[in-house]
Amino acid sequence: MKRIILIGYMGAGKTTIGRALSKELGLPFYDLDWYIESRRHKTVSEIFAEQGEEAFRQIEHNMLHEVAEFEDVIISCGGGTPCFFDNMDYMNQQGQVVYLKASPEVLHKHLLMGKGERPLLKGKSEEELITFIREQLEKREPFYTKAQYIFDVDVMDNNDKIKTTIDNLIGLLGL
Ligand code: S3P
Repeated sequence: MKRIILIGYMGAGKTTIGRALSKELGLPFYDLDWYIESRRHKTVSEIFAEQGEEAFRQIEHNMLHEVAEFEDVIISCGGGTPCFFDNMDYMNQQGQVVYLKASPEVLHKHLLMGKGERPLLKGKSEEELITFIREQLEKREPFYTKAQYIFDVDVMDNNDKIKTTIDNLIGLLGL
């Protein structure tokens, strides 16, 4: 049974890599944010705006316990998932957890390219964004680095780079 769980900061490429890995390995892909949205019939931004972050983290924790019971799947989590409750220890018990590690500069570049709406980054200028990423990443790294695997990710701005990343990741996981 394979259960691969991708973690990392916003913009690390969890969804891009998760999708590509799922295609390559022929396993279904679950993105925890999308799962929450489909179960709650609301976007993550709406949940943050209407109920606040604390309520979102509780929902995220509950939904993680559903998704991480599925077998033979690739799962990607939200950037904050590993940092609340005992989520990180639980994920380590449930599967092969991979921290997709990227520098603040790479994350910044991806987040500026990405069109997704992220409540925690809303209204930040480019300058404020890089400072926020640096500060928050420092706080989150102690959680992320509890992952069984740490995999460095670079800028993935074309299909060749994504393909190389996937091949290397499959090698690391011994799949
Ligand atoms: C968050 C990351 C988001 C989403 C929510 C909070 C975070 O997911 O769960 O906006 O705390 O880092 P992505 O990492 O997929 O953007």
